[in-house]
Amino acid sequence: MASQTVSKAIIPAAGLGTRFLPATKASPKEMLPLVDKPLIQYAVEEAVAAGIRDIIVITGRGKRAIEDHFDLSFELEEVLKESGKDTLLKEIRRISELANFCYIRQRHARGLGDAILCAQHLIGDEPFAVLLGDEVIDAAVPATRQLIDLYEELGTPILGVQEVAPEEVSHYGIITPKPVRSGLFRVTDLIEKPAPKEAPSRLAVIGRYILPPSIFSILEKTPPGKNQEIQLTDALRRLAQAAPMHACVVNGTRHDAGDKLGFLKATVAFGLKNPELGDRFARYLKGLTF
Ligand code: UTP
Repeated sequence: MASQTVSKAIIPAAGLGTRFLPATKASPKEMLPLVDKPLIQYAVEEAVAAGIRDIIVITGRGKRAIEDHFDLSFELEEVLKESGKDTLLKEIRRISELANFCYIRQRHARGLGDAILCAQHLIGDEPFAVLLGDEVIDAAVPATRQLIDLYEELGTPILGVQEVAPEEVSHYGIITPKPVRSGLFRVTDLIEKPAPKEAPSRLAVIGRYILPPSIFSILEKTPPGKNQEIQLTDALRRLAQAAPMHACVVNGTRHDAGDKLGFLKATVAFGLKNPELGDRFARYLKGLTF
């Protein structure tokens, strides 16, 4: 049983987005829209729906648009008010009232582990959630809520995982799982981006975590790993060796929208689900010939 509640989330969004160049040369990858909403807003809304109110976004050079997006936009609001666009006005206001936002700049994109370490002084001595800003998870129960529920039951770090195809294991952190019950595993080890024949399972860590504050002291001592980046996976490995850690299979559809093909697939999925456009978009897609 957990003794503390999870009330803060870190959203790392300081990466260079090289897989999406040139679009990400001067604009944040996390601001790419799925239909009409930027990727990072999906992550923020997921965290808020999971009960989180304090959101720490890790940003970097060229990422100012993220701060503007979640801020008040006085001029825009005035124009919408004057032109009687009340629904849009409400939506624009709602975005700036979603949560308490705090931004920290990661000076160099030195890896996900380093990005999380940047928020150490704002987290203090509490467990916290991490949501990667370019992963969108479409789920009936928000993915972060699924993880918090398990954290409240078990009181250990919780990683969100999903099974991936054998040829995809080399794109992810992969866990060594010990089954506990359906969809729940004890994590005994982790490996970052293994070759398919080295992978201990096909359970990939998918960008949703509940972590204890003790991860920070481990991150401080974690040397650069793969790609010369401070890898969160390396620190998680040390954490799993020191104390129990669990992974739960997240129910929902995950989109790696930081990848071009993943982004295109997510656009189709969200386009088809869109109440205004879905039917017309489906008719258009049906009419395409290849
Ligand atoms: P990715 O590896 O998907 O992002 O990191 P990237 O490095 O921006 O993308 P590519 O591989 O070059 O295309 C996952 C998340 O962690 C953040 C990214 O912004 C992304 O949301 N991140 C990554 C940081 O905040 N800082 C870093 O140093 C690296």
